Amino acid sequence: MKEIFKTYTPAPLLRAYGDAKRALQKYTHPTPKDEVVSFNLQSVYRGHFKVTYRGIPCLRYPFDYVMYQMIVSEIQPDLIIEIGTNYGGTALYFADLMDAVGHGAIHSIDVEDRVRAEVAAHPRITLFKNGWEGYDLAHAAGYKKILVLDDASHMYEDVLGALQKFAPLVSVGSYFIVEDGIINEVGGEAQYHGGPLKAIREFLPTHTEFTVDRTYCDMFGTNATANINGYLKRIH
Ligand SMILES: C[S@@+](CC[C@H](N)C(=O)[O-])C[C@H]1O[C@@H](n2cnc3c(N)ncnc32)[C@H](O)[C@@H]1O
Repeated sequence: MKEIFKTYTPAPLLRAYGDAKRALQKYTHPTPKDEVVSFNLQSVYRGHFKVTYRGIPCLRYPFDYVMYQMIVSEIQPDLIIEIGTNYGGTALYFADLMDAVGHGAIHSIDVEDRVRAEVAAHPRITLFKNGWEGYDLAHAAGYKKILVLDDASHMYEDVLGALQKFAPLVSVGSYFIVEDGIINEVGGEAQYHGGPLKAIREFLPTHTEFTVDRTYCDMFGTNATANINGYLKRIH
């Protein structure tokens, strides 16, 4: 009987039934106070400042950590260009992932030099200190599968500039990941002159070779990522 109900009931109705059942359970068996689950965008935002990778600050939402390792495994890039190194936590994360697939190099670009020693010493990582503006695209010559990640100033002008400069490097099937569109949601839109989201909105209509990959943006719920509409997949 249960199987017939599951087979012939439309999915939205099944979900509504499940929700109602859980709500009733909660009502009849309330959760003890110390077992209550409570988090939201603001709490995840505050928490992401505490994230480290191998002890090195690596400010990232948990959802994106998971998706980055999926993307590295899926694309197996020859080269990842990371714009915005900071202490190098993400560069090291990528380098370790690349070690796992046995393939790839990272060019990490910043304007400051605060990188931890183990990051600078990693054989897969090359550091560039002249900002995204000063990176010579010739450094990427010879690499076929290229993935680009912008996690630098998050100012609208910088993000758009980086998109225009680096997007042609992204190989078909790979990604330009624009990080931190979430700053608009947490009140930073004016400070960042519209931020990454304004840049994405302007970039996409004239670059139909890219599309927002909803598989990653919406994996854990609609735009449950710091990179709102930021997983730009090159489709041709
Ligand atoms: C949010 S942090 C990067 C965090 C790093 N990706 C991580 O996950 O650990 C932003 C970095 O961008 C750098 N930055 C600012 N302007 C830049 C530019 N024009 N080019 C490259 N990096 C820049 C800052 O110095 C800072 O270290």
